[in-house]
Amino acid sequence: MAETLEEPSDDVRIRRSWAKAVAAGDLVGRLFYSNLFEIAPATRPMFPEVIEDQAKKLLQTLNWIIDHLDDMETLVPAAESLAIRHIRYDVKAEHYPAVGEALIATLRQGLGPAFTSEDEAAWLRVYAQLSQVMTTAAYPTR
Ligand code: HEM
Repeated sequence: MAETLEEPSDDVRIRRSWAKAVAAGDLVGRLFYSNLFEIAPATRPMFPEVIEDQAKKLLQTLNWIIDHLDDMETLVPAAESLAIRHIRYDVKAEHYPAVGEALIATLRQGLGPAFTSEDEAAWLRVYAQLSQVMTTAAYPTR
């Protein structure tokens, strides 16, 4: 069926929805952290009180990750070292799902109906793969 063949890949869905979200600028980062702190209030004290700088770092890193979704040889080792750095921020594997939920909630709020259930499914799949790579590297004996 032609429609099926023309279905965008997960990477394409992620690039498109992310491009729309970052068009809103710094707001995306702030929205992400307010979602995270609502979903997982226990993570709030892990971050500095003023979240702006952290929000910028997160956005830059997500931009980089999304730019490299088609370059696993580069992406995987970078994601692994990012995860290993997170051990010293006291991050546990159990925190990763809340970050994924907050990210998807942010896209849903930011894009409204332009963020489709297919887009959401693509984000869920890719975030699951990314967090698998990250948690396996940081917590190998789990
Ligand atoms: C895709 C997943 C994630 C990405 C892209 C990401 C990105 C970043 C970046 C870029 C930094 C700046 C410092 C550095 O590069 O080492 C950072 C710091 C941090 N992240 Fe993440 N992170 C992720 C997952 C998580 C998770 C699951 C948590 C758990 C709550 C978390 C909590 C923190 C904390 C507490 C800091 C340090 C804040 C500070 O003291 O300045 N991150 N993260």
